[in-house]
Amino acid sequence: MFSLPPTPEDPVFALNRLFNADPSPTKISCGIGAYRDNSGNPTVLSCVKKAKDLIGSSTQNEYLPISGDAEFLSLSRELCFGSDPSSNVSSIQSLSGTGGLYLSLKLLSQIGCKKVYASNPTWGNHKSLSLNAGLEYSTYTYLDLTNLSSPSIDITNFLSDLSSMPINSAVILQACGHNPTGVDPTSEQWDMIVEKCRERKLYVIMDNAYQGFASGSPESDSLSIRKFLSSGLDFLVCCSYAKNFGLYGQRVGAVHVVSADSKNVVDAMKQIARATYSNPPKHGSDIVKTVLGSEELKKDWVREVGEMSERIREMRSKIREKLEETTGGSWKHVTDQIGMFSYTGLSKEQVMKCREESVYMLESGRVSVAGVNEGNLERICDVIGRAVGE
Ligand SMILES: Cc1ncc(COP(=O)(O)O)c(C=O)c1O
Repeated sequence: MFSLPPTPEDPVFALNRLFNADPSPTKISCGIGAYRDNSGNPTVLSCVKKAKDLIGSSTQNEYLPISGDAEFLSLSRELCFGSDPSSNVSSIQSLSGTGGLYLSLKLLSQIGCKKVYASNPTWGNHKSLSLNAGLEYSTYTYLDLTNLSSPSIDITNFLSDLSSMPINSAVILQACGHNPTGVDPTSEQWDMIVEKCRERKLYVIMDNAYQGFASGSPESDSLSIRKFLSSGLDFLVCCSYAKNFGLYGQRVGAVHVVSADSKNVVDAMKQIARATYSNPPKHGSDIVKTVLGSEELKKDWVREVGEMSERIREMRSKIREKLEETTGGSWKHVTDQIGMFSYTGLSKEQVMKCREESVYMLESGRVSVAGVNEGNLERICDVIGRAVGE
């Protein structure tokens, strides 16, 4: 018979459960990282609708190869790297970003890598995925927390932590739109990070879950990846098309391996995939392939990601304006930060006070700005203002 202790719930989904159980008609969720339109509804991008119409019922439901759809992978490489770099890059389709990280970490564990580092703070699942792959997990310094009203990367300690990582450790770097802080390294800082990774011979995993959401331009958001590409270092990129295509439930993603040995690396990942879920799902990659493969639909997509990103930026300005009005303090960090999230600087106690008034955010004080709209902004700011003011 089974006899198991209770398993702790994932904090993001636990928050969602608390939110769903709250009977308040004025409850607001600022928890889960999913885009909502200005009326608070999930969005289906028009390019995705058109792609679905084009695909229609003609699609074959045969298995995809274990490595996935070759055309989708080529278009994904083009989006990541600016063009399809071919010779020393090989790819495998993945179950969105999480599945790509799973394949990458499992592979690193198999080839003898012992330890993986992610930023402090980071997306909670980085730790779970690393431990599940059999790797030791630790963190590196990321944010300078001494001045929350003007958040920046603590580059000195970031680089010094990279320097003290054992040779051949792995490091997870978020390519853009850092979750949860909303703060990305500058171009010069990326150059320094690349050089440290070279010095320490680190296995680099670029977690590319928000391409397009940070700056509004998918091309600008690939700056860090292109820097690694031109450095000549071996590295992995895990792409997710959950957020930027609004295809959360389709589980569509890709891992690109940049290395002279990339074919063998992908072949080893295919073994892991075969023994885990066998083949990737098809519908999501059909949609992304149809959009990225059509000049017209790709143009629509670039515009629509830009619009989502812009709406979030507008919400940031309004949140800042309203909070500065109600609290009298500086909320500049809300507009300095980029991407879907704002690291508000609220303490756990203040977060709990917000929850008592049915405004839900993560204990870290992370708000998903992608869920804020004209209709709920006022109340969110009032509640935060009261929590901070008390
Ligand atoms: C930093 C980061 N990486 C990866 C993911 C993976 O998302 P998905 O598996 O839905 O593509 C997320 C999702 O929230 C994330 O925030």
